[in-house]
Amino acid sequence: MVDAMTDEPLLLTGIGRLLMAQVHSVDAPATLSPWAVLVRDGRVAWVGSPDEAPSTDRWEDLGTALVSPGLVDAHTHPVFAGDRSDEAAARLAGQPYSSGGILRTVAVTRAASDDLLEALVEERFQAALDGGTTTVEAKSGYGLELADELRSLRIVRAAGERVGIRVVRTFLGAHAVPPEAASTEDYVDELVHNMIPAVAGDAEFADVFCDEGFFNLPQAERVLSAAAAHGMAAKLHAEQLARTGATELGVRMGAVSVDHLERLDHEGVATLAASRTVATLLPGPALLLGDRLPPARALLDAGATVALASDTNAGTYANPSMPLVIGLGASLLDMTVDEAIAAATSGGAAAIGLSTETGIIREGLAADLVAWDAEHEGAFALHLGAVAPLRIWIGGEERGHGSV
Ligand code: NIG
Ligand code: FE
Repeated sequence: MVDAMTDEPLLLTGIGRLLMAQVHSVDAPATLSPWAVLVRDGRVAWVGSPDEAPSTDRWEDLGTALVSPGLVDAHTHPVFAGDRSDEAAARLAGQPYSSGGILRTVAVTRAASDDLLEALVEERFQAALDGGTTTVEAKSGYGLELADELRSLRIVRAAGERVGIRVVRTFLGAHAVPPEAASTEDYVDELVHNMIPAVAGDAEFADVFCDEGFFNLPQAERVLSAAAAHGMAAKLHAEQLARTGATELGVRMGAVSVDHLERLDHEGVATLAASRTVATLLPGPALLLGDRLPPARALLDAGATVALASDTNAGTYANPSMPLVIGLGASLLDMTVDEAIAAATSGGAAAIGLSTETGIIREGLAADLVAWDAEHEGAFALHLGAVAPLRIWIGGEERGHGSV
């Protein structure tokens, strides 16, 4: 029995496969078998073969289980109330995607009590953790006015602490234009002058839905410049509905990631490959919108850093399962299973600026680990969406979960 309070290092060993996910996206994650990992003060202190492992009084053998870094979901919108299943059905019957959907969720979310919204976010984080996600990026963006946006960011933090999942927060006030705004320009003024200064300190990143029918390039630039001046690094929803040039804007502004990219072309691929900006791909909503798929293969072949994320949100895709996202990456996006796992671990960490903290099993990084009910990583493809964690550690502490 493991006593989490002891200072004695913990040695985990196994005769199965340890996926270290040592590189971003392009190369396969290095695999070790048999393996041993020493965990000290919440960090990986040593990785190697069991016969060379440092000695300690605390150890556990995980047998043949496949072990990977904790999964990183680098793009989610979990703070919403209400149900838009009707829209999903209508879209699959031929209706186009429109901004009206986001505003439906905004109305219901604004009207929801703190208790309800907290319970919903907590439930979504617990479901993510149950699927092996140890770090989640969570956006505001269904409040669209200061008090509701601040409430969303605070609920994310509180729910993350209660569930015990690692959370980074993104201010997405520029998700849509709220009904009370006189114009998009007026709302951008409100974002720049009032909202961004007030949310600084409650979010690490700022994001803009920079796409046809939402915010244009100059508006996105204004929002992200103001956010940068208040210490928030840039992200962008880019090239989902139209090829706008949001990718080039993101790269020019040093965005940590540009996300979606269904309509990215060869030039955009080359621009990203030559940059440090991560391409975060979201196969779930692309599939449910009946849309074209992002150019994952071209991005990987060109040497771009690729992340895979769920995009859990109120209207276009609401399943937080990252094992399913890995399976979709491998089956739909022409990625190898190893590339898909790397994109959901080290690639995800890069997309939220946490490459030196998580996403790789390496000495010095946090001990965020998942032992899976599987013996080979091919299970993420074969069991599409149904690969479950047996054990989960975040920062060396074991987390309870309810799926198995
Ligand atoms: O990432 N693209 C913008 N936002 C979400 C959808 C939000 C909604 O429809 O409620 C997305 O897909
Ligand atoms: Fe999104």
